[in-house]
Amino acid sequence: MAKYRIAWLPGDGIGIEVLEAARVVLDRVGLDAEYIHGDIGWEFWRTEGEAFPKRTIDLLKNVDAAMFGAITSKPAKAAELELVSGLRGTGLQYRSPIVRMRQLFDLYVCLRPCKAYAGNPLNYKENLDLVIFRENTEDLYAGVEFNPVPAELAETLKKLSKPFGAFAGLAPEDYAVSCKVNTRKGSERIVRAAFEFARNFGRKKVTVVHKANVVRATDGLFLEVAREVAKGYPEIAMDEANIDAMTMWLLKNPFNYDVLVAPNLYGDIVSDLCAQMVGGLGFGCSGNIGDKLAVFEPTHGSAPKYAGQYKVNPIATILAAKMMLDWLGETGLGSQLEQAVSAVIAAGKVRTYDMGGSAKTLEMANAIAAEIAAV
Ligand SMILES: NC(=O)c1ccc[n+]([C@@H]2O[C@H](COP(=O)([O-])OP(=O)(O)OC[C@H]3O[C@@H](n4cnc5c(N)ncnc54)[C@H](O)[C@@H]3O)[C@@H](O)[C@H]2O)c1
Repeated sequence: MAKYRIAWLPGDGIGIEVLEAARVVLDRVGLDAEYIHGDIGWEFWRTEGEAFPKRTIDLLKNVDAAMFGAITSKPAKAAELELVSGLRGTGLQYRSPIVRMRQLFDLYVCLRPCKAYAGNPLNYKENLDLVIFRENTEDLYAGVEFNPVPAELAETLKKLSKPFGAFAGLAPEDYAVSCKVNTRKGSERIVRAAFEFARNFGRKKVTVVHKANVVRATDGLFLEVAREVAKGYPEIAMDEANIDAMTMWLLKNPFNYDVLVAPNLYGDIVSDLCAQMVGGLGFGCSGNIGDKLAVFEPTHGSAPKYAGQYKVNPIATILAAKMMLDWLGETGLGSQLEQAVSAVIAAGKVRTYDMGGSAKTLEMANAIAAEIAAV
């Protein structure tokens, strides 16, 4: 029996190709694992009315970790139109499988390392090494949304909130409400994860990203909790920044930052910015981590225009596989893999189109695998 059971969820479009590439490299480092395919994505929505079928949820209950490629999602009306005829008009509603997965399995940490590998022609600046902790289950992604707004909710808001008076006369279909829900527990555990990481990996500073000067209730709570947690880590500096200013400062003085922690939406924004500074979508990797399960993925989507061409850069997914190795405790294999990625980037001989080259997805994977063999 293999040491690890890994759920393997390619999904749609280039998700299939980049996961194939990651497998080449995982096989080369010799991870002792059984990889079990899981259905997820658009085809299952179209034909079954469920992009994240129950059989895949059950699979995730019985694995050590998962690798996820990418999925295609479309707005509600387009999704309804693509259902097979027997399912159309039955009231099915498309829900993003990845957002559901994060909530269902309480994968509350979204960990996004953003490191500039030497010699990557896409680096904004050399030697950048930022790590982002994004809260992954609540905030504006809680899914508590109304469009149109029910009269009952409007009545209650009118009674309880003075600023709501500005909207109170609107017809229900003329406005929408998305609730930003942040909890003390959710805020505490993501901030703690960031500080623990800083402590364990010798990082000097954690910057808490928020907008508490305007979004007083939820971001105020996040900041209050962060200040409390920081007291337990006196050796690590705590810094605070508004999300808007943060995007400017990150571009201007990226070396002033080290570990960043943020509620869900700001974390999403800031991590895309940081990923772009170290090479963009071909390099952005991510771990969705809970207490029992972790799911690793590239941050890009299914890129339909490149699907089937084996053209895109698999490094983001290969670095996600490295994160999985580390999370499983196979840090020796993880660092072999990272050294190989780093060596191939530095050599500059094998580059995919985004890096200015013409290598195909599996050529990049094979070059990295060959480097592992050479280590
Ligand atoms: N986690 C996910 O599965 C996820 C994330 C984002 C978007 N999506 C979905 O993916 C679909 C396509 O979305 P999109 O086109 O806005 O974003 P995308 O990330 O799929 O691709 C946008 C563009 O980025 C570039 N790109 C992406 N991955 C790359 C790689 N590995 N190497 C080189 N270049 C790469 C390509 O030019 C591509 O056309 C949509 O249905 C969207 O909802 C899914």
